[in-house]
Amino acid sequence: MPETVLLVGGGGREHAIARALAGSDAALYACAGNRNPGIAALAEGFETLETTNPTAVVEYAEEVGATLAVVGPEGPLAAGVADALDDAGIYAFGPNAEEARIETDKAFQRRFMRERGIPGCPDFETFDDLDAACEYIDDYDGDLAVKPAGLTGGKGVRVIGDQVTKAEAKEYLRNSDYDRVVLEERLVGEEFTVQALVANGDLRVAPAVQDHKRAYEGDEGPNTGGMGSYSDSGLALPFMTDGDYREAVEVLEATVEALDGYKGVLYGQFMLTADGVKVVEFNARFGDPEAMNTLPVLNTDFLDVLVAAREGDSLPELSFSSKATVCKYAVPEGYPEDPKAGARVEISPENAGDALLFYASVDQREDGIYTTTSRAFAVVGVADTIAAAEEIAEDALAVAGEEGLDVRHDIGKADLVQKRIDHMDELRGE
Ligand code: AMP
Ligand code: GLY
Repeated sequence: MPETVLLVGGGGREHAIARALAGSDAALYACAGNRNPGIAALAEGFETLETTNPTAVVEYAEEVGATLAVVGPEGPLAAGVADALDDAGIYAFGPNAEEARIETDKAFQRRFMRERGIPGCPDFETFDDLDAACEYIDDYDGDLAVKPAGLTGGKGVRVIGDQVTKAEAKEYLRNSDYDRVVLEERLVGEEFTVQALVANGDLRVAPAVQDHKRAYEGDEGPNTGGMGSYSDSGLALPFMTDGDYREAVEVLEATVEALDGYKGVLYGQFMLTADGVKVVEFNARFGDPEAMNTLPVLNTDFLDVLVAAREGDSLPELSFSSKATVCKYAVPEGYPEDPKAGARVEISPENAGDALLFYASVDQREDGIYTTTSRAFAVVGVADTIAAAEEIAEDALAVAGEEGLDVRHDIGKADLVQKRIDHMDELRGE
């Protein structure tokens, strides 16, 4: 019997998931808070609903006869959508709310690492009293990262010595309404992501990806959900060795072993430091943008992974094409602090050239597609080298034009890739 898959979520990541499933022997349905025209074009049905409402998602899943579900974003996972689907007899590839705490509760995540002896855990303390946290900042000899324990869309962290001073960090806490924060040792190095597909105690890893969180070129400006990302033709990135990549995979393996029963994507955000690989955070889902680097080069049928996960089987080994990828997001002008919506999106799958086009948050009107106040769309180049992939992405951005949009053109360019290599060489004293 062919499968019917419900995809939950309507961003660029979910468009990439939809594309990965589009070639499979499955009927695809999707639901999201926003209508994503890219997903809608690939799906047999698309329902606009509140994806953090488990009842609404289950109702739609039952209506379309879903036999499997993939939950894209963290919000629905935190709200128990995977639990509700599982309870309704629809296998959800995504952790239940309790397991998703590895992402949704940073205090839990750090304590879990410490208690279970997971390698790569920085020094940390957790606080539910903000005055005590401020005192700790005063007394701490060195720089700290200040992290609200709950979900903030990647925008809640302040790093002392990088983005803020000690005084600004304390002011940030005092002006916040956070009820729990984690203060941890500032990690210095280069960040990278490794995503793993996990079920039945098995773990299958993807090539490393580097995202760019800062809003503006040259890694300036406020943190965002991610402005773009690249991966190389092998498993590691140019600034790291295969040994560094393996060290990250070992952390993921130790985590999956300690989590017992986890299913879905486990995303490790790592900092490669002079002392090796450290964990910045875990996420309980694909990265956005990182899914757009990884899924287009996955040769294994993603549906086979989902079915094996549901059936309790061993997961298939993953095969990836030996291609580099560069993903660049186009965001509304002024994003993230003062985004201006309403620019017409001139790029479409028909005129994107060799690039893949993934829609994120856009508004589809009768006369065209327009930006909202969140990341609008991403273009992805896939080629033998990072440089060639970057050119493909840029050619597509030229079609999209610049009216009302901001893009970090530096992502994937030789200068920035080299800067990362030089940074690591310098830290390692080479
Ligand atoms: P998170 O929300 O945990 O992903 O953090 C957002 C960003 O803050 C990360 O991608 C890092 O760039 C930065 N960050 C988080 N924790 C640390 C840390 N301990 N040291 C340095 N930077 C950090
Ligand atoms: N790219 C960062 C994230 O998905 O959280």
